[in-house]
Amino acid sequence: MTSRDLESVALMLVSEGKGILAADETTPTLTKRFDALGIQSTEQSRRTYREMLFTCPGAAEFISGAIMYDETIRQKSSGGAPLAEALTVQGILPGIKVDTGAKALAGSPEETVTEGLDGLRDRLREYRGMGARFAKWRAVIHLSDALPSAACVSANAHALARYASLCQEQELVPIVEPEVLMDGPHTIERCEEVTGMVLHAVFHALFEHGIALEGMLLKPNMILAGTECARQAPVEEVARATLRCLRRHVPAAVPGIVFLSGGQNARLATAHLNAINRLPGAKPWKASFSYGRALQDPALEAWHGRDANLPAGQRAFHHRARCNGAASVGKYSDAMEAASPTADDPLHSRDWRDD
Ligand code: 13P
Repeated sequence: MTSRDLESVALMLVSEGKGILAADETTPTLTKRFDALGIQSTEQSRRTYREMLFTCPGAAEFISGAIMYDETIRQKSSGGAPLAEALTVQGILPGIKVDTGAKALAGSPEETVTEGLDGLRDRLREYRGMGARFAKWRAVIHLSDALPSAACVSANAHALARYASLCQEQELVPIVEPEVLMDGPHTIERCEEVTGMVLHAVFHALFEHGIALEGMLLKPNMILAGTECARQAPVEEVARATLRCLRRHVPAAVPGIVFLSGGQNARLATAHLNAINRLPGAKPWKASFSYGRALQDPALEAWHGRDANLPAGQRAFHHRARCNGAASVGKYSDAMEAASPTADDPLHSRDWRDD
């Protein structure tokens, strides 16, 4: 695969009106989500749940790729084909989470550094052989008056760059995810300051490691006030701050920015993406989604672990995929929610965040 091929996969992932489903929760994280709804977490129930999402009729109109976890890419659908194949037959590109989690940073235990570089080349080769076309690595940055430390930012940026370089060597498009968490009382201004600093460090590391920017995607947080901040910015302000920060720090050669939802309520995550895409002015990259909770929560709630509810789960997932597809081209409206198959937008449990 040449860097041209990587570029075409990256472009496919952000093709018009489409975004990515992040369904790569680790088994402990998905078990927490199942537990909260009284669903038993077994290899079989996790497979059924992922198959429900991956085979949702019509979802491929809005979903370009799906990120899997190691267990999932090794599972077979009820029809006996690998789950990765269930995606490709629909025209959805299979992706894989390849980091092994955020671990306490020695010397600054309130912060984390993401691990998973040991043996990564061989794992990437194996995943590519199983049909994966792109990969994901998530760095986690805690924010406070004093954090992040310079050591945390540079260790995570360095790991992201080494991961991205190995991915491109092994013919996988790297999704580079530096997530500045929304927990805490910080202001939207502080989020913008820290996110800008982190993006600057990440692109510096990517430059040092010779990453082909055309063959990668960035998965950042939006610029939001902390969840415990008294002043929550309105949708327009979030959109303006997010676009300003990205314009300042993300090179135009990157084909797409696919946001994480980070614990935002599902409809708000859609409204923010829509507002970003409606802002005037230069936007050299596509701005789309790679949502986990904001795409899945209503579907998980509707399914509730029961086979009889599989069509209801798929309808709920299809609805959020459709709304976010529209938001990725600035065409989402409140009226679209009137067609929602779920009575209420279920509230997120922010503790459901991946480890
Ligand atoms: P959320 O959209 O739930 O934040 O998940 C996205 C993701 O992939 C985090 O790594």
